[in-house]
Amino acid sequence: MKITSAELQTIAVNKEKYPKDNLFEIAFAGKSNVGKSSLINTLVNRKALARTSSRPGKTQTINFYNINKEFRFVDLPGYGYARVSKKEQKKWADMIEEYLHYRKNLIEVIHVIDIRHEPGEHDKSMYEWIKYYGFNGIVVATKADKISRGQWEKHKNIIQNKLGVENKKLIVPFSAQKRTNKDEVWKVIEEILEV
Ligand code: GTP
Ligand code: MG
Repeated sequence: MKITSAELQTIAVNKEKYPKDNLFEIAFAGKSNVGKSSLINTLVNRKALARTSSRPGKTQTINFYNINKEFRFVDLPGYGYARVSKKEQKKWADMIEEYLHYRKNLIEVIHVIDIRHEPGEHDKSMYEWIKYYGFNGIVVATKADKISRGQWEKHKNIIQNKLGVENKKLIVPFSAQKRTNKDEVWKVIEEILEV
């Protein structure tokens, strides 16, 4: 995909503030700190379009990025960050749920998982939801630079079994730091956009 423009279009905390046009949206969901915002930056060749942080809980709103004036990437807050209050956690969970549940523009949710870690209960629920609503169930397994390539298959197997991913081809190891498999992720996204 040739990127001609990538800009933050809107920030929302509830559905009244979502963009009103009909552009298709691809959302990135996953646990806090797995690298959702970094993935978006890498895909659009920008260092800091989406704000990132080594501390979990950086993205606290729903951020809509307009790409090439053709479609949007939607950066969601992460879930499962234990160090914020239960009230705060619930607020984020409700915000994510409202978006996923109501948004008609949404054509795919890409599930972002840290390749090193066995998916937890929140990850399982998220993946079940993604499948239940008829999305493809694509998993981008980030931080792949943190383990050796020889370990990838083993970790992909763990993710596949834990989440119940139908086909291992749906799991794409990825590194924002090294830009590994950026083209593979784009290939998947281009296929979705052609629908
Ligand atoms: P929240 O917004 O808090 O939910 O986090 P996020 O999922 O958007 O993660 P973010 O992109 O902010 O990245 C979290 C941290 O992981 C940052 O310090 C990133 O630099 C780092 N990171 C993200 N992707 C990679 C990767 O592929 N490899 C390595 N080594 N670090 C990464
Ligand atoms: Mg983020």
